[in-house]
Amino acid sequence: MGKLTVNDLDVRDRRVLMRVDYNVPMEEKDGQMVINDATRIKETLPTLRLLVKNGAKIILMAHLGRPDGKREPSMSLRPVAAKLSEMLGAPVAFLDETCGERVENYVNSMKPGDIVLLENVRFYGEEEDNQAEFSEKLSRLADVYVNDAFGAAHRAHASTAGVAQAVTKRGGKCAAGLLMERELRFLGDELENPARPFVVILGGAKVSDKIKVIDRLLEKANTILIGGAMAYTFKLAMGLQVGKSLVEPDKVDVARAALEKAKSKGVKFLLPTDNVIANPVATGKLNKKGKPVMEMQNPRVNTAPNIPAEDEGVDIGPATAAAYREELVKAKTILWNGPMGIFEDPRFAEGTNAVAKAVVEATQKHGAKSIIGGGDSVKALNKAGLGDKVTFMSTGGGASLEFLEGSELPGVAALSNK
Ligand code: 3PG
Ligand code: MG
Repeated sequence: MGKLTVNDLDVRDRRVLMRVDYNVPMEEKDGQMVINDATRIKETLPTLRLLVKNGAKIILMAHLGRPDGKREPSMSLRPVAAKLSEMLGAPVAFLDETCGERVENYVNSMKPGDIVLLENVRFYGEEEDNQAEFSEKLSRLADVYVNDAFGAAHRAHASTAGVAQAVTKRGGKCAAGLLMERELRFLGDELENPARPFVVILGGAKVSDKIKVIDRLLEKANTILIGGAMAYTFKLAMGLQVGKSLVEPDKVDVARAALEKAKSKGVKFLLPTDNVIANPVATGKLNKKGKPVMEMQNPRVNTAPNIPAEDEGVDIGPATAAAYREELVKAKTILWNGPMGIFEDPRFAEGTNAVAKAVVEATQKHGAKSIIGGGDSVKALNKAGLGDKVTFMSTGGGASLEFLEGSELPGVAALSNK
């Protein structure tokens, strides 16, 4: 990596302002916000332990949710400070502001090894606007800046980009944390010259979300396996009927172009040959987002090329799962992004679980390197209890996707070069 990392810094006695991604799923229980999944907190512990060992004063900055520049009590980071302290086995102080005189005074009285977490930086509208004055204010808390928030590195915000520029301008150094370094290595360098066969599994709802990734991976992969609702747009492109499946008719051309590119590049491009389908029936209820809630009735396997007019595809079928497993156990490098079906519903999780098991089998039995590109695939692996049996799971959702597309992430671009 061409960027400085924490290992290159002398941090003794210095104020290290560190951006972390503590945007963790939370839920209200008995009037208290409880953390449902602390993975993102856990993954920053190595950087924190290194900084403590080297005598840094650590000031943590993060966002939670999308409060849109307003103080939203349910999005306070206070519970995260308590959780971090418990996981680290050391005190972590919490301040209910992110910048200003009080915070500056506090930070200037810190001792080596002290850790403080600042309140949700998105309580300030200037954060998402990447406002220069605000970045300047944040930079007053820092002798050096460290970014370990890979999951937020695709955002050009004050805490990810602006503050690094302000610190740099004053002659200070900006470095990647150990988690950031690992993410960039696995999602970047490791996929540059992968051991072959290199098999990619892509799922999720939309072709439009993944088209740039598909296009880029068609240059690198030996085999691409497609699942999720995205597959139905490909079916449409092949002139097949998809019933009530989720499709993007305006992306049929894009899907067709991908199929042609696969052919001309000699990439094996597999689509589901069977599907689990079900009949969606309106319940008359609306969900939290105001969309009608459908009940999925009569789930069954469909082996015909066409999906009946009144049915919706909701998962890959058993023959497809078996065919995908065949490819995966031959792989030396695997990249997986996106579920195979509506895995939140246990009736439609079998395809995703089968893929998860095959990825684990390839990793554990055949020595494949397996890299999981964040978001729902990580959720699915964790749900199946297989999270620790793959080579690497990204903590990024949108960030991993943008990085896999080949985009330069603003939070990485802003760091000092080696
Ligand atoms: C995430 O959870 O994807 C990151 O923390 C970024 O959050 P955002 O999508 O609200 O910017
Ligand atoms: Mg997000």
